Amino acid sequence: MGFDTSDDAGVYRLSADLALVQTVDFFTPIVDDPYTFGQIAAANSLSDIYAMGAKPLTALNIVAFPIDALSGDVLLEILRGGAHKAEEAGVAILGGHTVDDCEPKFGMAVTGTVHPDRILRNAGARIGDRLVLTKPIGTGILSTAAKRDRIDQDALAEAIGWMSTLNDRAAAAAIEVQVDACTDVTGFGLLGHLWEMLRASGVGALLAFDSVPLMELVHVLAREGIAPGGTRRNLKFLREQLKVVPGLPDEDLLILADAQTSGGLLMAVDPAKCDFLLQALQRNGAQGWDIGEIVGEPGISITL
Ligand code: CO
Ligand code: CO
Repeated sequence: MGFDTSDDAGVYRLSADLALVQTVDFFTPIVDDPYTFGQIAAANSLSDIYAMGAKPLTALNIVAFPIDALSGDVLLEILRGGAHKAEEAGVAILGGHTVDDCEPKFGMAVTGTVHPDRILRNAGARIGDRLVLTKPIGTGILSTAAKRDRIDQDALAEAIGWMSTLNDRAAAAAIEVQVDACTDVTGFGLLGHLWEMLRASGVGALLAFDSVPLMELVHVLAREGIAPGGTRRNLKFLREQLKVVPGLPDEDLLILADAQTSGGLLMAVDPAKCDFLLQALQRNGAQGWDIGEIVGEPGISITL
């Protein structure tokens, strides 16, 4: 598939009708509860497989853990959370590897399969397509606010719910409706992953700020200047590509650039099929928001 279009996972064709899809992801805890961390890390690792339109089959755990400083029970809880999420996805954990490290880290290397003709890619967004997002934005800003004790763990509940939600149902709708392009929103934020899709497809986009779904409190916290370093770096990196309507403050742009953990799918879909996609998402038990449009003019224009 090549590296130039920044697709979500690596693909290796085994035969005319079968390709392997492989990805790996792991990170440090973003919530206090080890079981929840395990669930989120697993959902996040599986996400790149779903973003390619593939079916995950097997996974290997990747663990770093301070064996002398923390109780082994904490590690067991992380692994239990990951195992339960893998079970929900119908994925078999075949094994894994643990190293002693000063800070815990957890994630998975995941293998899936897909028909080579049905791979969902970044390239393929066409002028006139609608942009649909399947999870609200805000996990980076909210977890930073929790780390700084600006909000308590209870206020993180909504973010935790979304982060531990698999993208399997959203991907099933994307496959059913045959979207033109698909990726998942993670560390580069909505703007960063949209930018990758636009660059791969040779098009631009028009985003409507008010139609982007946000988690509770995110707007307030962003206006107070609370955002992780990665979010600020994302915005700085993309600032020159943005054409922003007067009156939209930079704090609001931080939201669109917010580094997400286990974010939703971002899809470009033929406008005639957009309602069908939104209905398919709902029928599958997922959600979707129409947040903008693919246009010919390069860059990302942001309106209110
Ligand atoms: Co991805
Ligand atoms: Co990844």
